[in-house]
Amino acid sequence: DAVERGEYRHYMLKEIHEQPQSVADTLEGRISGGRVLPGIFGSGADEILAKVKQVQIIACGTSFHAGLVARYWIESLAGIPCHTEIASEFRYRQPVVAPDTLFITISQSGETADTLAALRMAKERDYAARLAICNVPEASLVRESDLVLMTRAGPEIGVASTKAFSTQLSALALLALRLAETRGIDAQRYAAAIADLEVLPGLIRDALQLDAEIKSLAEQFVDKQHALFLGRGTQFPIALEGALKLKEISYIHAEGYPAGELKHGPLALVDETMPVIAVAPNDALLDKLKSNMEEVRARGGQLYVFCDTRIRHGMGEGHVLELPACGEIAAPVLFNVPLQLLAYHVAVLRGTDVDQPRNLAKSVTVE
Ligand code: G6P
Repeated sequence: DAVERGEYRHYMLKEIHEQPQSVADTLEGRISGGRVLPGIFGSGADEILAKVKQVQIIACGTSFHAGLVARYWIESLAGIPCHTEIASEFRYRQPVVAPDTLFITISQSGETADTLAALRMAKERDYAARLAICNVPEASLVRESDLVLMTRAGPEIGVASTKAFSTQLSALALLALRLAETRGIDAQRYAAAIADLEVLPGLIRDALQLDAEIKSLAEQFVDKQHALFLGRGTQFPIALEGALKLKEISYIHAEGYPAGELKHGPLALVDETMPVIAVAPNDALLDKLKSNMEEVRARGGQLYVFCDTRIRHGMGEGHVLELPACGEIAAPVLFNVPLQLLAYHVAVLRGTDVDQPRNLAKSVTVE
């Protein structure tokens, strides 16, 4: 079926605005009575998940960033060791597989050559099972995996992935919580995480209200050649994703960095010409992030902060944009939204081909 752009100037903008619905669709029928429903990963999946002792996640591009967030969740909620790796590296290593390791691929298209090759290699090895998180039901990745959790983003046309990422994170949160439940997670924390997921579509809708403000902010980025994105914890992959979006569609060189690494290199680049974007949720690492922000300010860097509205007062002067209050599971999905909008508006101002950036393909089916 032809997918219409409707009132939107680009598919990417339409897809950004579809996120409340795509996330709601991905969660639909998978949470009930305050818990992740058993059986959502297919028949026999729950027995396998109950005995998993390690997780290996493989993906490319934006899907890899979703896998990086999942690592924090699986380790902190379920207490299961988890590694996330780029498919093109994994497939040429000689990985040592620990007993009862669950192998997970994440892919919007389910046809990415390196991710498929990694899955095929994993089939030759002694993994507990191979689980695909994918957006296209008829994809090779789905057909060739033992277990499947479909994201329900609908067709994604823009080359730069947006709604697929939010739905991947939603699906991965369900997985982390399912694993956590079988391991006996603290009931209060579990309930808070479920509540967090249930309000997520509405929170994304609220975050999209920042569109006009971000559009005017984007004017300050048009002439930049470089940008630095900083985050800690689950916001580190969001910093990577924010930088990827900006480079993909605006062609501005951007790097995402764990904020704690600032002193180990990137600080040397910071001066009054360098925009530095920090993502600041209300979490345990906030004070650490704030001291990194001070380091940037002290060197005259132009700081742009996206923060949880509850901590606005502690963010100091300059460009500070507030996001709705949210919990640990919602935060990475939510904080990514303004970074998508920022990349979009900068690209539009620079006059690039937003939906079809030069040299890039929607699905990389050859190596
Ligand atoms: C290409 C696309 C990206 C995508 C990546 C992985 O690089 O341009 O948007 O994140 O492939 O694609 P997949 O379909 O495996 O998620």
